[in-house]
Amino acid sequence: MDNPVGIAVVGANGIGKFQVRSAVRMMKAGQPVRLVAVCDLNAEDTKRVVSGIFEEVYGKQTDTNVWPQLPEYYEPDDYPGMVGCDDVHVVCICTPNFLHPEQTIAAFRAGKPVLLEKPPATTAEDAWAIYDAWKASGRPARLHLNNLMAPWYTDFRHYRDTGVLGDVMYVDVEWVRVQGGPFLRKWFSNRKLAGGGAGIDLMLHPLGNAMDALGWPKPIMVSGRTHRMNLPIEARIGPYGGRQMGDGLDDVEDIFSLDIWLENGVVIRARTSWAQPGTQNETFGFHFYGNKGGFHFEQRWDINDGEDAHSIQGGHVVGWEQTAPGRAIPTKTSLNWNHDPANMDLGMGRHETLRRLVTEVASGCRGDVSLAHGTALAAIVFRGYESAARGGLPLTMDGVRWPVELEPHPTLNLGSGIAGTGLGLGEIA
Ligand SMILES: NC(=O)c1ccc[n+]([C@@H]2O[C@H](COP(=O)([O-])OP(=O)(O)OC[C@H]3O[C@@H](n4cnc5c(N)ncnc54)[C@H](O)[C@@H]3O)[C@@H](O)[C@H]2O)c1
Repeated sequence: MDNPVGIAVVGANGIGKFQVRSAVRMMKAGQPVRLVAVCDLNAEDTKRVVSGIFEEVYGKQTDTNVWPQLPEYYEPDDYPGMVGCDDVHVVCICTPNFLHPEQTIAAFRAGKPVLLEKPPATTAEDAWAIYDAWKASGRPARLHLNNLMAPWYTDFRHYRDTGVLGDVMYVDVEWVRVQGGPFLRKWFSNRKLAGGGAGIDLMLHPLGNAMDALGWPKPIMVSGRTHRMNLPIEARIGPYGGRQMGDGLDDVEDIFSLDIWLENGVVIRARTSWAQPGTQNETFGFHFYGNKGGFHFEQRWDINDGEDAHSIQGGHVVGWEQTAPGRAIPTKTSLNWNHDPANMDLGMGRHETLRRLVTEVASGCRGDVSLAHGTALAAIVFRGYESAARGGLPLTMDGVRWPVELEPHPTLNLGSGIAGTGLGLGEIA
């Protein structure tokens, strides 16, 4: 294969496995891609993870079923050497939040495009340091806003862009986990290492959908609130990683809510939680209210086993139909993504972002979403935390940096991949 795009993954556990799998699936599909390197703390564990994914995609290795070459393993101390390798063309950063700035900036300084896990960093200052290094590098980069790549969101854009919903009035979003704190008392629940709790962990996802739905208008004022549930840790810890608990700090919020006033007059209300006895099931909700109709999406996890594949996705579009002179009736179109699994993405778009970044790198064309979008979301969330520290006092965004690239773009077309290239690296099953 001539000049395949070489992918390196740092941090090959929870989300890192998705990026390893994305790369291996692209290879299997004959796309011009190769997984060339992985970096994690433990060589044996990392190689086991990688081989497991090769086996899942290619089948058992035998004399007649020979896998492509496995990626090179790098120790964390060798990370600068890894990003400097000539055959590494894209770096996926899937490590704990506190490691993102150093690792991302090192990749940009080596001139490498980056797919960075959310959140970009644990503070606004570090998020902007990453942004500045990205701008200086001139290379493509994205934050992993995978829910923008989910099929239901493509369907939402159809209703928005064909005028069915009219002009938007307000947007409500949520990602509410009932008993879902990840790896409590490990790095996730340590404010210094993670940057926050449910807010920093979950908020960028639904807020990304809300902002994108509106074409990324500039916020003018933000009010944030944090809450900590008065519950034993057993009622707060989620299923991720087998309900593992550490013995470290647990000093972050369980609930984070935001109200965001935007320059176009729209208000977004967003809520996220790790623990929430007032609700029955984990839910990801997106509600777009236009002056002609509304679009409602809800993903529900009725079984709290940490398996996104067990969740149910449903929704509806509501409006009015004039059926005769002087007569109108309300309409409701049910949207059911579960009827045909081909309409869903059980990975919530997580296998799509890398494919799009690779397409950008291979084609040299600008992508649909960049690190600027992720930095904008981080700027809102960190301002929201400042407001929360003052009891929810609304704070203006005056003096808060905002990415210059974010021209409001109400008809942004995320569905077509890299617009106009026709490069078509193909769909991934
Ligand atoms: N987009 C999503 O849907 C999604 C889902 C989960 C996590 N995340 C994000 O992904 C990141 C990682 O989260 P996770 O749940 O995969 O965490 P994790 O703890 O499961 O995995 C982190 C991996 O990084 C490795 N690591 C730690 N220090 C390292 C170092 N110095 N060098 C190389 N490797 C190192 C660990 O050994 C581990 O394998 C976080 O930023 C998190 O917010 C995103």
